[in-house]
Amino acid sequence: MKLSVIGCGYLGAVHAAAMAELGHEVVGIDVDERKIESLSAGRAPFFEPGLPEILASASASGRLSFTTSMAAAAEATVHFVAVGTPQKAGSQSADLTYVDAAVEALLPVLKPGDLVVGKSTVPVGTAERLAARVREAVPGADLAWNPEFLREGFAVKDTISPDRLVYGLPRDEKGAAAAKAALDEVYATALAAGTPLVATDYATAELVKVSANAFLATKISFINAVSEITDLADAIGHDTRIGRRFLNAGVGFGGGCLPKDIRAFGARAEELGLGESLAFLREVDAVNLRRRQRVVDLIVGLLGGSVHRRRVAVLGLAFKPDSDDVRDSPALDVAVQLHGLGADVVATDPEAIENARGRHPQLHYVDDVATAVEGAEVVVLLTEWSEYRDLDPVQLAERVGSRIVVDGRNVLDSATWRAAGWVYRGMGRR
Ligand code: UDX
Repeated sequence: MKLSVIGCGYLGAVHAAAMAELGHEVVGIDVDERKIESLSAGRAPFFEPGLPEILASASASGRLSFTTSMAAAAEATVHFVAVGTPQKAGSQSADLTYVDAAVEALLPVLKPGDLVVGKSTVPVGTAERLAARVREAVPGADLAWNPEFLREGFAVKDTISPDRLVYGLPRDEKGAAAAKAALDEVYATALAAGTPLVATDYATAELVKVSANAFLATKISFINAVSEITDLADAIGHDTRIGRRFLNAGVGFGGGCLPKDIRAFGARAEELGLGESLAFLREVDAVNLRRRQRVVDLIVGLLGGSVHRRRVAVLGLAFKPDSDDVRDSPALDVAVQLHGLGADVVATDPEAIENARGRHPQLHYVDDVATAVEGAEVVVLLTEWSEYRDLDPVQLAERVGSRIVVDGRNVLDSATWRAAGWVYRGMGRR
């Protein structure tokens, strides 16, 4: 099939390369020339495991190209909209500017029989509105909503072998059948492998995504709230009804999805007069943000009440491991807060330094752990990269000024660290 993917960020670039890898002919379109230049040269413009490999093989197959010109979409019959829906400045709602602009820009090249497929996370009601716009501008063209559930760090795997597919289809039977047939062809490989499919209406498809993210956020904030007393994750996670995954206490969730999605979900519910039903999400957000403050307070306490001119080594800046993404990153936030309190922060991360520097040039960044911890009075682990989990406390002890470690992700073995002479503090862990 001939596909276009509009928006080549974390979602779109992976989607475009993965669809080409699966045998489709794909053009990725983005307004950002640097991004397109990099993708066209086969270079991933961000860190995502597995992406360079599928970019290389899909480009070599001749089935994948990238351009800034929307005219290239004219060749395709299915057009994925994968642009960002960030939080609107000064509001809790999602900013739909990019989604609206992408659909408007696509209309002049759209043909009857084409299908526009929304992948971006949007407030309920958006698909209905955009579908009306598409049908009015190009009679015979239609729209479906097909939310993406990919996790950064696992995006390639999640796109090629998703755990489920959700289609939000038009209300009229003929339109729904045509849209479903087109999507079934796009996802033929995953469907043949037995991937569960939920074919539903627009509103449900829009809500599945934000509800899934709200549930995950609630699970994390629940364990973080009780962890203010003690970390119970292992104890309650053995209950199979609860499950141990997404139950890691720590400095909290961040990234380009969970925080803004729960806010936009609540904001949309308010607009629809249903704000009370989702009022608990405000508390989920508040518990999460308190975690960042809690880590800062812990460090201040460990240093005797002030971090002013005290050397703090920050390990980790990305919002989670295996990603270079620092959007709403708890780790970066804590580093910035400590710097604001006058600490001499030295921060490192295996992949996210450039992105962190772009947002916060005032911090002191170094490339490796050994340099970061040199003379540090406290070492703070904030993103659980495997190389940080595996640090040797005996070796590290020789470089630091004081043997104090704050484990902001509860991933270090406290007994081993204490045996090496460290003062260890976790989140809700003694
Ligand atoms: C999330 C959803 O998982 C994905 O399905 C959706 O499509 C997009 O949003 P992502 O933002 O890539 O994906 O990250 P995710 O793995 O969900 O982690 C989100 C945040 O929660 C990270 O900051 C992570 O460190 C934190 N987290 C996760 C915890 O604090 N504890 C946990 O137990 C799990």
